[in-house]
Amino acid sequence: MRFETVKKYKLKQKNMKSTTTKTKSTSEDSEYGMEESKLMKLFEDSLKDIYWAEKALTKAIPKMVKKATSGELKAALENHLQETEEQVKKVEQVFEMIGKKAVAKKCEAMAGLVKEAEEIMEETEEGAMRDAGIIAAGQKVEHYEIATYGTLKTYARILGLEDAATILEEILEEEKNADQTLTGCAETINLQAVEEEAEEE
Ligand SMILES: [Fe+2]
Repeated sequence: MRFETVKKYKLKQKNMKSTTTKTKSTSEDSEYGMEESKLMKLFEDSLKDIYWAEKALTKAIPKMVKKATSGELKAALENHLQETEEQVKKVEQVFEMIGKKAVAKKCEAMAGLVKEAEEIMEETEEGAMRDAGIIAAGQKVEHYEIATYGTLKTYARILGLEDAATILEEILEEEKNADQTLTGCAETINLQAVEEEAEEE
């Protein structure tokens, strides 16, 4: 980003902070119109990317549930599957808010993470070891989503899209909770995996 642009953004953010009621564009915004439209394009592209990712996850998570052994892990994944199905609709709402058609664009990063999860499930024996692998793969997915929704939420705020920012923040919290739940599952499952290995020897 050019220095001039950075300066403009800092100034704009300062202006936004000083007004509590401002949600839509004002005359101040027109000065940054060009930059905003570029950010809007980035926002829309990232939204298309995460829309594809969420849809891909609605197909990938059921496979993880099927391959998991632990009841706690299965329940956590099933719960997040439901959330993910809702998130698809929430992202569609955001598209609607910006007056754009919901379009999915292949997210290479998520495609890679899903592929990695499939490989882990194939390469590990059923039981705690495979469960540990599923948790690791699941947490990588969550962290990608946390990064994306964090960015999207920030863009929405800068663009003055408060309603969109609220929805994106809601999803962000769900992803953070899902990540924490998986950490909770890992606490017992990782130990079981080590015990399982010791029994085999
Ligand atoms: Fe998600």
